[in-house]
Amino acid sequence: MEAQKRLIFSLLYLTTLLPFSILGLRTLPPDSNPCNLKTLPDPHSLRSDQLTVLINGYSDSRISLLTTIAGSYAASPLVASVVVLWGNPLTPIETLNSLSLNLSLLYSSGAPVILYRQQSNSLNSRFLPRRWIKTRGVLICDDDVEVDRKSIEFSFRIWQVNQDRLIGLFGRSHGLDLKRKEWIYTVHQDKYSIVLTKFMILNVEYLYLYSCGSDGLEKKFMELRGIVDNMHNCEDILMNFVISDVVGRGPILVGAGRVRDWGDARNEVGIGKREKEVNVGLSSIKRGLGEHRKKRGECIREFHRVLGRMPLRYSYGKVVKSVSEQGLCDKNGKLVPCDQQILE
Ligand SMILES: *[C@@H]1O[C@H](CO)[C@@H](O)[C@H](O)[C@H]1NC(C)=O
Repeated sequence: MEAQKRLIFSLLYLTTLLPFSILGLRTLPPDSNPCNLKTLPDPHSLRSDQLTVLINGYSDSRISLLTTIAGSYAASPLVASVVVLWGNPLTPIETLNSLSLNLSLLYSSGAPVILYRQQSNSLNSRFLPRRWIKTRGVLICDDDVEVDRKSIEFSFRIWQVNQDRLIGLFGRSHGLDLKRKEWIYTVHQDKYSIVLTKFMILNVEYLYLYSCGSDGLEKKFMELRGIVDNMHNCEDILMNFVISDVVGRGPILVGAGRVRDWGDARNEVGIGKREKEVNVGLSSIKRGLGEHRKKRGECIREFHRVLGRMPLRYSYGKVVKSVSEQGLCDKNGKLVPCDQQILE
């Protein structure tokens, strides 16, 4: 009875998005099957004029930064709600209760901000389809990257006119090592084929595709997600595979106004090297990649093996904002209007 009452309260809370956390931390019962379309909102009912923001939270030491970041997303009129997906199962409940309360107080500044405790620490769970996502666009980001409001809004505008594409602020590449005849993870000066989960905007449908697969591909997708679990890495690369495979085109990189990157969220879990984006040259990004890059190269090779093809596609140039608010693309250092060719 008690459990039932709690469930009803939890559901009420998430549907109405109450401004104040009177109940402390809500842990929704796990969806028995997140791939059951009947439990997900009707795609036609989703709104396209606002975004849902999903921030991955893991480290206690970054909670205050996380709170700041969540607050700045909540302040944007384009944001419908901000959900912090807490993935660290070891965080004390008192800390989470306090964080939950602090986040709910941010509501006064705009969109509701909710803490959601992940049921599993699988990296794949940041991409689970959710009953409570009521927007078509979903912004996925880490807890250590601060993006200014104009860049968030500009990126969203770009997504609104490219709703099938993956939009990001941080580009990387796959490449072919000709000597070893194998795929690698790298950074190219003039092209990219992967955008990172430090900041990405995608259509909510891709969450379903990633997590549930599509007709006949369910087993393959399960195997691909298994690679992410085994490697404790690469869920972002897999999402790029999934979307490029459907669209037949690469992601769209947006030139950000002001981005502060506080480091790679994976450091804390002992995976990967620090990958600082701002004020560092391409060469030092390359140097810093090290082990992290090797591991991610391995992911690319494994995904390619399982899928039996290489869906990643290069894109060239990034979409930047001009004074006239019209998109300008930076192509080989020159600014040109973003016509379809460049976005393709
Ligand atoms: C919540 O906010 C209070 C007051 O600013 C602060 O002392 C506390 O550390 C915060 N809790 C968490 C978990 O960040």
